[in-house]
Amino acid sequence: MIEVSHISKSFRVDGMTIVQAIHDVSLTVDQGAFITLIGPSGCGKSTLLNLICGLMEPDTGTIVLEGDPSAKRLGRVGYMLQRDLLLPWRTLLGNLLLGPEVSGQPLERARAQARELLPLFGLDGFEDAYPSALSVGMRQRAALLRTVLCQQELILLDEPFGALDALTRRTMRSWLLEVWSRLNHTIIFVTHDIDEAIYLADEVHVMSPRPGTIVQTTRIELPRPRREEMVNDRLFGEYRTTLLQALGV
Ligand SMILES: Nc1ncnc2c1ncn2[C@@H]1O[C@H](COP(=O)(O)OP(=O)(O)OP(=O)(O)O)[C@@H](O)[C@H]1O
Ligand SMILES: [Mg+2]
Repeated sequence: MIEVSHISKSFRVDGMTIVQAIHDVSLTVDQGAFITLIGPSGCGKSTLLNLICGLMEPDTGTIVLEGDPSAKRLGRVGYMLQRDLLLPWRTLLGNLLLGPEVSGQPLERARAQARELLPLFGLDGFEDAYPSALSVGMRQRAALLRTVLCQQELILLDEPFGALDALTRRTMRSWLLEVWSRLNHTIIFVTHDIDEAIYLADEVHVMSPRPGTIVQTTRIELPRPRREEMVNDRLFGEYRTTLLQALGV
């Protein structure tokens, strides 16, 4: 689906200081896979997603989407930003249709698809509600549905559950796996939460502190569908220890 080879990226701050955000990152993601990315704050996780979706280009290295090195990535990848906000003056449906509206696509099809997916996202009956009337979890699910409606096969999620309390987070991760198994997306999911990284993934990639590079890749062999009780399994505990070691904590 996507092949990232040896990419590095630096930023110039105030025209002088150079911050090397990521260094020599390589990553291959198969079609339909669920990949999680974990690493300390500021190690370049969001930068890596910005590069993958084509918002910026790497200084060195290559990113190949669907086997075509010349292909433009921008507009072909779904992306939910770390602080993805709903517009308070628009209804839920108005927020969901933002993408197609901004890009000038016909709204009828998008509206029909949004309505069809509302139940799966636990938002049925709320299409005319304003964001202030939704719970935090519902708002996050709405932001996710908005990303899904962009109709891209590869979806990048930057800490989508970061603002949620621990209990809602647990409900949301099981729910996200359910959505993923029904819609067949390829997902790259960034998180700070070790259990979340293991629970969701086919493969966890651990990044080092800045300049971020991938220091460990662990295949997660837990069976699917995943269940909450699995966090108590011996194997789950072993993965947890491996990741903690790689993170140096
Ligand atoms: N556009 C930019 N211009 C200058 N510096 C930037 C830019 N984007 C990111 N950086 C710097 O690059 C480094 C990596 O930032 P990034 O946001 O990718 O980290 P992160 O791993 O997503 O952090 P967090 O976990 O806190 O979200 C930071 O030092 C940041 O200040
Ligand atoms: Mg970030």
